[in-house]
Amino acid sequence: MRFLAVALALLMSVGVGAAPVAAEPAARHQIGFDKYSLTLDGRRQVIWSGEFHPYRLPSPDLWLDVLQKMKATGYNAVSVYFDWGYHSPAPGVYDFTGVRDMDRLLDLAARVGLYVIARPGPYINAEATGGGFPGWLSTQAGRARSDAPDYLAAADEWLTRIDRIIARHQYTDGGGSVILYQIENELSATGTSQQNYVAHLHDKVRADGIDVPVFHNDKGRNGIWVPASSDVPGTVPGKVDLYAFDGYPGGSCHTDGTPGSPNAAPDWGLYGPGGAKGGASASPNTPGFAAEFGGGWFDYWGSNGTYPCTAVREGPGYERVFYGTNLANGLTIQNFYMTFGGTSWGWLPAPVVYTSYDYGAAIDEARQLRPKALTMKEMGYLIATVPQLSTMDRAAAVTPSSAAVKVYHNANPDTGTQLYVPTHSPSNATTDDTFTFPLSTPDGSFTVPQAGTLRLNGQDAKLLLADLDLAGQHLVYSTSEIMAAAGGAVLLHGRPGEDGETVLRYTTKPRVDVLAGDVTATWSGHDLRLDYRHDGLARVRISGGGRSDVTLLLADDATADTFWRVDGNSGPLLVRGPDLVRTARTWLGGTALTGDTKRPTDLEVWGARGLLLSWNGALVPAVPTRSGSLRAVTQLPGPVDPRLPALTGWRTAPGSPEAASGYDDSTWAVADRTATNSTTKPPAGQPVLTADDYGFSTGDVWYRGHYQGVVPDQLSLRYGGGGAGMLQAWLDGQYLGENVLPSALASPPTTGTATFTVPESLRGDGPHVLSVMVRDDGHNEDGGVNDAHKEGRGLISVTLNGTSWRIQGGRPDPVRGPLNSGGLAGERDGWHLPGFPDRDWAPATVPAATADPGTTWYRTTFDLRVPAGQDTSVGLTIGDPGRPRSGGHYRALIFVNGWNLGQYIADVGPQHTFALPTGILDPHGRNTLAIAVTSDGGPGNGLENVTLTNLGSARGGVPVHLVTSPGYRCQSLC
Ligand code: GAL
Repeated sequence: MRFLAVALALLMSVGVGAAPVAAEPAARHQIGFDKYSLTLDGRRQVIWSGEFHPYRLPSPDLWLDVLQKMKATGYNAVSVYFDWGYHSPAPGVYDFTGVRDMDRLLDLAARVGLYVIARPGPYINAEATGGGFPGWLSTQAGRARSDAPDYLAAADEWLTRIDRIIARHQYTDGGGSVILYQIENELSATGTSQQNYVAHLHDKVRADGIDVPVFHNDKGRNGIWVPASSDVPGTVPGKVDLYAFDGYPGGSCHTDGTPGSPNAAPDWGLYGPGGAKGGASASPNTPGFAAEFGGGWFDYWGSNGTYPCTAVREGPGYERVFYGTNLANGLTIQNFYMTFGGTSWGWLPAPVVYTSYDYGAAIDEARQLRPKALTMKEMGYLIATVPQLSTMDRAAAVTPSSAAVKVYHNANPDTGTQLYVPTHSPSNATTDDTFTFPLSTPDGSFTVPQAGTLRLNGQDAKLLLADLDLAGQHLVYSTSEIMAAAGGAVLLHGRPGEDGETVLRYTTKPRVDVLAGDVTATWSGHDLRLDYRHDGLARVRISGGGRSDVTLLLADDATADTFWRVDGNSGPLLVRGPDLVRTARTWLGGTALTGDTKRPTDLEVWGARGLLLSWNGALVPAVPTRSGSLRAVTQLPGPVDPRLPALTGWRTAPGSPEAASGYDDSTWAVADRTATNSTTKPPAGQPVLTADDYGFSTGDVWYRGHYQGVVPDQLSLRYGGGGAGMLQAWLDGQYLGENVLPSALASPPTTGTATFTVPESLRGDGPHVLSVMVRDDGHNEDGGVNDAHKEGRGLISVTLNGTSWRIQGGRPDPVRGPLNSGGLAGERDGWHLPGFPDRDWAPATVPAATADPGTTWYRTTFDLRVPAGQDTSVGLTIGDPGRPRSGGHYRALIFVNGWNLGQYIADVGPQHTFALPTGILDPHGRNTLAIAVTSDGGPGNGLENVTLTNLGSARGGVPVHLVTSPGYRCQSLC
């Protein structure tokens, strides 16, 4: 026993992932494709991919957490944008270390067993500032996304760096699991200049050693940038191997945060209109490929907060109807955008989004699985279990008994396996309809179901199979959906309370033991027909009949969702009970599993070896069952209350010294340029003030204008501030006021004009100083290929001719990166960093009843004691999360251990709670919190209550090392 325990311990310590995709390093692999699907070493594969942005989760160990959650919920691939601006603070300067270590990301994906779709742009859109372009690119003369030489040289510079990394991780040469590579993103202009650009990108990435198939993502279905193999009239050819398109047809939420009506699912393949604009039909000789298909949607400043609603609107019913319709249409490469949205931390957000990029995705921003993730699991497992789905032709039209229902009908030309997808007609109907349909296979012709009732109730579709060899059995048909076959068990499921009927074929009558549940078995000819209701878990053991023994597990959806199909080193296992199963390892005497529990749960395993079972490294006493499983005799424990502390001990200091007339700005840059490539030029004769022209591309920027003479009674300041950006101004140290760009619009204005009336007392002849702070909430994206990212940020012009200006902004943090820092005095002096000596600051009470105009800093520390082996996702909440916005005219930047984790805008909203990633947050030690409050001043405009929030706890998780977070001493001296 001791020997066994040691052996088990050794086994359990091996690796972090399931069977890696690239099992044999350096072994070469072939990637091919035809009209049906990709082939990997000749094996057809449906690619079921989720979008994940590592730059939206600044804690590399948590990348493993998300990737394992994706793998566990049935995805076989991850699609990754690489954000150029995230890595490059200046021309020629690139950082791929720490939270920017893309080698690490690609290693983890391969180890977890996920294929990778690499999407490095150069332009990505993605609701990232500048659409992923670095700030410095906005000063270029040449048009971006064209063949302008300066732009191409810059794009090549980025591609050289990122391709070097991606090329090391290609499936083709055994280095990793990258199977596809996207050039550009939604390049909707198709002129000669763009044709040259696409050809240039293709040749560049090939020269960089990228040898996997290359594609472009067509914004919508325009038939642009299709491979040479397509001769469909109206398409635009490009130098690509595959054609891909995107679409977000799922319907949305009302502004009050309630779900709108569902849309009907489009036919973008086999059942569609065809032609250049029909989706997959634009390229008949390559697989149907949705490079992005809606897995949620983003949300904007001033909304009422739609993410929870979006997760419902694009929840289980939507996934079944839309993704199922896509499968029926032969879209064998589907990528769901987003699967984990994460956080646009720091100055990453484009003007169209706020900090949270939760997206209503399957995995929420706090890394918790939403119910829709479990529906993805049902569908993903089906795809893994039935590879015949990769090769589907349209089959004979099927007319169901009800006109309220339509049934897609496909067949695999090689095996004869048939796919029936019943959904409402039209598919946005949500009525409760019963129906039968005719089903014909070489085993016979049937009206299905033969007994009981088949129904569609609400937004729903079903993926039903017929004529399928599975787990040593031959399935004639089933009105239950197949979820998994592993360890001698087959799991089928259906909506709770609905009938199910499964027909299996045998040479002789098998023995049928109903071990649990209410199941009727009927034997006729060679067919065993089982009729039952999906209700909890029925277990049927079938032996004899000329086939191997099998346990059928017949579950309602919720019960099916407690099962996990996990790749072990000797094939897949089926595990019931825990809230997540991450890895499985078997050996002759035992089985080692890792995963998460969110409450006490059962543990039951099909496909286990021997009698030894371990969970997260601890032996679990277990006994074999009549169902062919191994079952733990006691429940696995759940997490404990992490007891998050109250935030106390605040200290405060005023943070806008630049407003004072006597402030020394002599070290600031002189803003006296006369030419700019920005699209927002100053009036003739006035100096260029836009911040990018002086090297300041993120966050806040300060100006001080020195003026001699009488000040007019009105001052107008034109500025660029991105979404909900703002400006504050002082004349000779006296606060003039603030201007906030309008919000509550999906596409908000990003420039504006602040007009202030100057009090008579300040206007007199003499030297004056106009101090101005502009908050830049992101550069525009360039979705229209019109250089929109070059719109100026900071001041554009001021109606005070003859002023000489100086400018000061943020400097890139050497570790936290170019998007962490803005130009507040406190940021420039390291007030946000751990270890900053704030002992001279005044003690403060939070909530604060009032505030001074300008910026005021608050600091405190707090200690966390999350138990080892527990993953608690911690959030920071400001104000009342029950209301999208409070009335307070203030905003707050939130720094945790020096990392800028988001912006709260009290009177704009809607976000109150900010996810703090473990790793940046020390769950077992001291953390430093600094909040920079920028207020209009006065009562009610001060910092509201600030609390820590438990966003989800699980016993389990992944080991998380602390992200390097240099403190004040180091940052200023090292
Ligand atoms: C797509 C685009 C993505 C992202 C998405 C919306 O059209 O390719 O980058 O912007 O829309 O979230």
